[in-house]
Amino acid sequence: MLKDKKILLGISGSIAAYKSAFLARELQRRGAEVKVVMTPSATEFITPLTLATLTNHRVYSDFTEDKDTGEWTNHVELGLWADIFLIAPATAQTLSAMVNGAGDNFLLAVHLSSRCPVMVAPAMDLDMFTHPATQKNLKTLQDRGVDVIEPESGSLASGLDGKGRMAEPENIANHLERWFNARAPLHGKRVLITAGPTHEPIDAVRFLGNRSSGKMGFALAEALIKAGAHVQLISGPVQLSHPKGVDELIQVETAQEMYEAAISRIEKVDIAIATAAVADARPANASQKKLHKHELPEAIQLEQTPDILLSWGERKSPHQIIVGFALETDDGLESAKKKLSRKNADIIVLNSTLDPGAGFGTDTNKVTIFEKGGKTHNFDLKSKSEVAQDIVNLLLNKVKP
Ligand SMILES: Cc1cc2nc3c(=O)[nH]c(=O)nc-3n(C[C@H](O)[C@H](O)[C@H](O)COP(=O)(O)O)c2cc1C
Repeated sequence: MLKDKKILLGISGSIAAYKSAFLARELQRRGAEVKVVMTPSATEFITPLTLATLTNHRVYSDFTEDKDTGEWTNHVELGLWADIFLIAPATAQTLSAMVNGAGDNFLLAVHLSSRCPVMVAPAMDLDMFTHPATQKNLKTLQDRGVDVIEPESGSLASGLDGKGRMAEPENIANHLERWFNARAPLHGKRVLITAGPTHEPIDAVRFLGNRSSGKMGFALAEALIKAGAHVQLISGPVQLSHPKGVDELIQVETAQEMYEAAISRIEKVDIAIATAAVADARPANASQKKLHKHELPEAIQLEQTPDILLSWGERKSPHQIIVGFALETDDGLESAKKKLSRKNADIIVLNSTLDPGAGFGTDTNKVTIFEKGGKTHNFDLKSKSEVAQDIVNLLLNKVKP
């Protein structure tokens, strides 16, 4: 959940500042980009060099870049850059200065000018933490919308035992994940996706299949998880690693198995997306054992498989959004529009093999999206993750809160 999040990490002068190095690493490990601002006091506890090396960004602790030339650091820009300003550790002094709106060090100036939300992880001795002044400062900051990550209890650097230790880096990172998740645009929405091809047995070892790679469905799963959705992914046989963060990955082989998995889950979801290239037909008389060469039939009799998108459409309840994909070998516009109404879908995403770089197996796709009600959106050739993002953006306009 911290993927691509921009976190401005403020460090003030507590002995817990050494933990900020681990925190910066943990945030990056979870996908965040981290920049660091330090109070002058904090630079006595941990060097800017350590944090600059870990984060791959210069560290900011002074108003001026070069005292001789008068070149200065733009504290306003940092506040605009960040998705969140996390001050960890936050000393009693820094908390008090924040309450008073002080701006006499660089970190405090960033605090005053930042437009992003602010979060603090206090760290101090037991008596400093329980002091009425500190408690009042924390309450004032909370009333202003600052999120406070409660310190933890245990032995303190002073030798005392009690509440005041900065929360462990992993717990701070978990808190941030929960914070972002609760504010994600599709938070709490449940999404069901089908992806990949299906394999329809001819005998115990042979099958009828297609060239679908599953990449589009997996890219959509990732984009939807990033937007805060709970994703169940039903996948045919693919050579892709499991997308991180799916609630449930259901691996199936045949159209019938995919149909059963898709129908049994449709009722509980808000959005259902059919990207899978499900076989339209299967061998009617598949053999349980491997057929020898001389036993192979001259012709394979086919029977139709159940239609997942159609069945979803028949069961659709008013709050649900159903998205289908159509792959055509001509321009496909008319058949995509017909599919939209025939299958009672809300969106049809059309890709055509006529477009170079679009369709099965590729890392890119070029799509036209038809919405129920007549709106059409044409997109350029893009990576499948960018196409997934375009689809998620459309869904954001359609989902009901
Ligand atoms: C070894 C040492 C450890 C300290 N640890 C803390 C601490 O954990 N929390 C705190 O609020 N102050 C602590 N202080 C006091 C702060 O460093 C001092 O209040 C300083 O002015 C804070 O400045 P700043 O908030 O601008 O970084 C410590 C001081 C020393 C010398």
